Amino acid sequence: MERQLTIPGMIDPHVHLRGLDWSHKATFATETGAALAGGYWAVLDMPNTPPTTTTPAALDSKLDAIGSQAVCDWGVYYGASQNDNAVTYAQVIGRVCGLKIYNNATTGTLLIDDQVQRAHHYRRWPKDRVIAVHAEGETVRDILALVVQYRVPTHFCHISTAEEIGFLREAKAQGLPVSVGVTPHHLFLTEDDARALGALGRMKPELKRRADQAALWRAIEDGVVDVVESDHAPHTLAEKASDDPPYGVPGLETTLPLLCTAVRAGRLTVDRLIELVALGPQRLFDLIPPDGTYTVVDVETSFAIERSRLRTQCGWSPFEGMRVSGRVCEVWIRGRQVFDGEHVLAAPGSGINLFDQGGQGA
Ligand code: NCD
Ligand code: ZN
Ligand code: ZN
Repeated sequence: MERQLTIPGMIDPHVHLRGLDWSHKATFATETGAALAGGYWAVLDMPNTPPTTTTPAALDSKLDAIGSQAVCDWGVYYGASQNDNAVTYAQVIGRVCGLKIYNNATTGTLLIDDQVQRAHHYRRWPKDRVIAVHAEGETVRDILALVVQYRVPTHFCHISTAEEIGFLREAKAQGLPVSVGVTPHHLFLTEDDARALGALGRMKPELKRRADQAALWRAIEDGVVDVVESDHAPHTLAEKASDDPPYGVPGLETTLPLLCTAVRAGRLTVDRLIELVALGPQRLFDLIPPDGTYTVVDVETSFAIERSRLRTQCGWSPFEGMRVSGRVCEVWIRGRQVFDGEHVLAAPGSGINLFDQGGQGA
C-alpha cells in the first residue's frame, strides 16, 4: 500500500455544524475548520439547530451565517415541519441540498411521527431531489412504504442495526431509489463501550450490539452501504455532564483516520474507502469535485486520538485514546491549498454553497 493516498473531493453528507442560537456548542467557522482537518471538501448541514431551518427566513439567516464563515464548501438541508411548510418548498429548492425528515425523537424539535403528515411532505417534495430521513427500526419500513408510493430518492441516515440493514437490502433488490449511510461510532463502538463512555457515548441511534456492528461491516463489504457519514453533533462537556445529557457526538476529524485504520487492518479496501467518503456521497447529490479538489492522507503513521489536537469547538471525542493511522496532510479546493496538516489556510467565507442555483429557487 502507498504511504500517501489521494482522495478526490471528500464529502460528509450528515453534519450538525450548530452556529446561530447554538453557537455556544460550535460555530460554522470552527466546525468547517474541523471538516478541513478531517480531510473534507464539503459538508451538508442538518436543519435541527435552532432556529430550525424550516422557513425561508430561517434558511436565509443560516445561508448568510455559513456563507460568511465557511472555510470548506457546503450545502444545507431544509427541514420538514409539523405545521406544514411544504408550501415553501418552491421558494427554497434552488438553494438547499435536500429535505430532512425526523421520524423518531432525537436532539431538537423536528419530530414528525404521523404517517399522514410524512406522506404529505413526500407528495409535495420534488421527485428528483433527495429526502434524508432519521428513521429507526420499524420506522424504516414506514418510510420505505412512502418511497414505494412516491419514488423520491431517499437517504437513510445513520443505519445501525442488522434488522434495518435487512429492510434496506431488500428495498435495493427491488430497485427502490434508496441509499444507506452508517456512522463511524456504530462501526467502531458498541454497547460494551457505552458503559465506559457514559454521556460521551450517548447518541441517537444508540450504540448497538456486536451482531449489529458485524452486520454493518458486512453491508459495507457487499455494497448495501453507500456512504460513511460522521453525524458530527457537537455538545459541550458541561451539557454532557448534566443530569439529562443531550444526544450526539462529534466525528468530523476522526472518521477518515478510523477508516484508514480499518484499511490497514484489512477490514476495508482502499477502493471501498474512497467510495464511502467521496464517490458515494458525490453520486447521491450529483456533485462533481471541481479541478484541483482533493485530500492527501498519510495512511501509515499512527497516533492516538486526543482532545487537545481536535479543532471542533466542543473539544472532546468518543474515540479518545484509540490508536489510529491516517493523518490528513493536505486538502486542496479548486486548486488552492486550504489545509496543510496543521493550519487552516482558507479565509472565512471562501467556502461556497454547492447547491446555489441562483435567484430565489425553482
Ligand atoms: C443529532 C444532534 O445532536 O443534532 N444527535 C444525535 O444523537 N445524532 C441529531 C440526529 O442526528 O439525530
Ligand atoms: Zn438523526
Ligand atoms: Zn444527525
